[in-house]
Amino acid sequence: MGASLVVASNRGPVQFTGDSDETAVPRRGGGGLVTAIGPALADGGGVWIAASMSDADRRVAASRPMLTVVLPEGRIRLRLLSPAQEVYDAFYNEIGNRVLWPLNHCLFDLARGPAFDGAFRAAWKHFRTVNEGYAAACADAAATNAEVFVHDYHLALAPSALRRSRPDLKIAHYTHCPWPDPHYFAVLPTGRELIEGMLGADLLGFEVPRWAANFLRCCAALGHQVDSAAVLAPDGRRVQVRSYPLGVDATQLRRAAAAPAVAAGRRRLSSMSGDAVVVVRVDRLEPSKNILRGLRAFQELLTRRPELRGRIVHWVLAYESRQQVPEYQRYAGDLHSAVAEINARFGDSRWTPVRLATDDDYPRSLAALSLADMIVVNPLWDGQNMVAKEGPVINEKDAPLLLSRNAGAADDLAAGALMVNPFDTAELADAMAAALDMTAEERAERAALVREAAVRAPPREWFGQQRRDLAEAAGLQASTVHR
Ligand code: F6P
Repeated sequence: MGASLVVASNRGPVQFTGDSDETAVPRRGGGGLVTAIGPALADGGGVWIAASMSDADRRVAASRPMLTVVLPEGRIRLRLLSPAQEVYDAFYNEIGNRVLWPLNHCLFDLARGPAFDGAFRAAWKHFRTVNEGYAAACADAAATNAEVFVHDYHLALAPSALRRSRPDLKIAHYTHCPWPDPHYFAVLPTGRELIEGMLGADLLGFEVPRWAANFLRCCAALGHQVDSAAVLAPDGRRVQVRSYPLGVDATQLRRAAAAPAVAAGRRRLSSMSGDAVVVVRVDRLEPSKNILRGLRAFQELLTRRPELRGRIVHWVLAYESRQQVPEYQRYAGDLHSAVAEINARFGDSRWTPVRLATDDDYPRSLAALSLADMIVVNPLWDGQNMVAKEGPVINEKDAPLLLSRNAGAADDLAAGALMVNPFDTAELADAMAAALDMTAEERAERAALVREAAVRAPPREWFGQQRRDLAEAAGLQASTVHR
């Protein structure tokens, strides 16, 4: 029997480790997606379709085309797709990580790249093939009239491919990252195909209205008819375009922060920080997170306020990600050099101003965010940024949040956070100084505003609203067709 709810994403809810299928162990990934959709999938007899991302995943997929994983959210049926390695590399690393991610975050170094040459076109064909593979897997898994939720830029072409084979399905696509304006989007030679791929859906979701508005402007620039919340697809359907800002599940997060491993992390971090003021950031080690400018601002603070030397420590928890991508490797190298330079220039035998850790240690991240005196979130661009919401919810010191205006989270948190232009290191240094000088009353007031806004639309509600809107959008479609 087909599934009434199908979810498709590149990264699945678990990744396997181990040398053989018998010994393979699933490890739950981080991120809000599984928290948001896991319960609905488990309760409603759904299926999650994801890519094999490790060798162990591929071994498991080869012997078990459909498997069941047991998570706190329930038992989830999972189908892992395993395209040939070079096809998957082109899909994920070349197009996903080196073209679409930098496009959506305006990260191209336009004077030197990207090279939209024959190699790009060959990689794009593979990108298309993987998307078609996902569409086929969704078509295969879905019951008549089922709901299908397709996630993110990796799978932008899947909605139209799926609609061609299964027009009965209700299809939604959600973009978890920003969307650039038409001027920047026009850099991509295959932009029309990408957008028309997404227009196969009934409902397109974005994190915040800014990104949805940019998407609508890109559609208009390509000649599609748009209004403030919909686009006319080439086949005459009205595709709804909405935003769904994801919030924090405070109960679940506080439970995670109360775990013994987090307490142990706090003890370690406290003993290493002593009485110093603790400045914390937690990011994937990723160029869009703007970690280097954050360090420059910290350096400026130390230069402006020599009395802070020996009395402040900056924890930079930047866990490695996508290290196959040369731009990421270079960024990691630059980060290590910047940290070494600041520590050599300002530190001494008793004081290390910047502590950098690049391993992925979730309990340590929670520990650091809970005991921070100041939390820095300054991405160049970010779809939402959950650290900006999660940090303040578990912080115990009313730590001021320093937040980039270009993070989607700014829409919810601006009233309580200290807002900065992420390109302006002097402004970030000013904000750090302001955070240090802030009265206890102002800290408490701002922290309360941030916490209250951060827990609006927790994951289950976020997904529930999308399901209701998808039913409505697909219903409108049906009535249009029958008229
Ligand atoms: O689009 C954003 C996103 O999917 C985030 O949800 C997540 O933080 C990140 O990308 C993960 O990227 P990857 O799966 O390539 O490691």
